[in-house]
Amino acid sequence: MNAAARASDVWNGARRRLQIFEVGARDGLQNEATFVPTEDKIALVNALSAAGLPKIEVTSFTSPTAIPALRDAEIVLREIDRRPGTVYSALVPNVRGAERAIDARADEFNLVMSVSETHNLANLRMTRAQSFTGLAQVVALARQQGVPVNVSRSCVFGCPMEGDVPLAAVLDWARRFIDLGVQGITLCDTTGMAYPSQVSAVVEAYQALEEDTPAGTLHFHNTRGMGLANVLAAIAAGASRFDASLGGLGGCPYAPGASGNVCTEEIVHALELMGYDTGVDLCALIAAARRLPALVGHEVPSQIAKAGRRLDLHPAPAGFDAIRERALARG
Ligand code: COA
Ligand code: ZN
Repeated sequence: MNAAARASDVWNGARRRLQIFEVGARDGLQNEATFVPTEDKIALVNALSAAGLPKIEVTSFTSPTAIPALRDAEIVLREIDRRPGTVYSALVPNVRGAERAIDARADEFNLVMSVSETHNLANLRMTRAQSFTGLAQVVALARQQGVPVNVSRSCVFGCPMEGDVPLAAVLDWARRFIDLGVQGITLCDTTGMAYPSQVSAVVEAYQALEEDTPAGTLHFHNTRGMGLANVLAAIAAGASRFDASLGGLGGCPYAPGASGNVCTEEIVHALELMGYDTGVDLCALIAAARRLPALVGHEVPSQIAKAGRRLDLHPAPAGFDAIRERALARG
């Protein structure tokens, strides 16, 4: 990617434009023990669309035995309202999933493959080389059908079983996918192992790849409380696209200790305060996030859903006038 392309992608007038991609309906709900009814999933995606998010990962066309929570993928993707301008993406693990996603009119395929051999075997039951061969077939099918492809690279910032992952491996595999002709690459911190200085180094190394490298998306989980710090480090290093999940839902059923993604309304709230332009309606997001506990049957991590925005003020306590009078009377 050349500097001019990056600048026009990143800047919108005086306020720097950031793109927040919602993954809660997939990365979040895939992990839930209770099945969220199909009509509630559709209503959730419709609320996210109405909040103005530019991309929503709606569901996953994996095997329903592997991820039963998303076994209604076709119905959800077919029945949502499609807001012009929003990209409705779906996770696709193999050719079978791609065929299902094409039938359901996915706007984009999100492919997954881990940088870690152990995590790839645990999550997808294949070596990385086997995954790559299978995904190359999916990319060929997508090209035939004119569907753009994003590849989410799991465990870029560390693997919970192998430990640190060599940066060279991250960059080599990214290169191989770019050579296949994919339109997007997401660098995922699947289990919250990333830390800010590492994020800067990875983002800078990714951006230093050749001119044809698509803008990278960063995908952080807040497992160790560093999610927002990592987002800010990535922005400082030049990144402008982030995955996040409403309420901070999320995880990976095959990654021990995984917990939620960075929370959409928390990062939109922080970034807007800092003067960035996300194009998202924060109030609509917060309203949707507050409906989540009833949907999933438990509290969600979002602090903003609990505490409200910074300037959502509270009335002074009962008896305040008397307190003030007494204080003033003391002189
Ligand atoms: N859609 C529906 N069914 C699928 C499918 C798809 N995309 N891919 C495979 N299947 C079915 C097969 O038909 C087969 O069904 P059967 O047991 O009734 O015959 C079964 O799943 C196993 O198929 P197989 O080809 O042996 O695949 P596998 O067991 O090696 O599984 C994956 C491969 C990737 C499909 C599976 O491991 C999976 O979906 N994992 C979940 C990965 C994931 O989404 N993780 C979280 C996101 S990071
Ligand atoms: Zn994730």
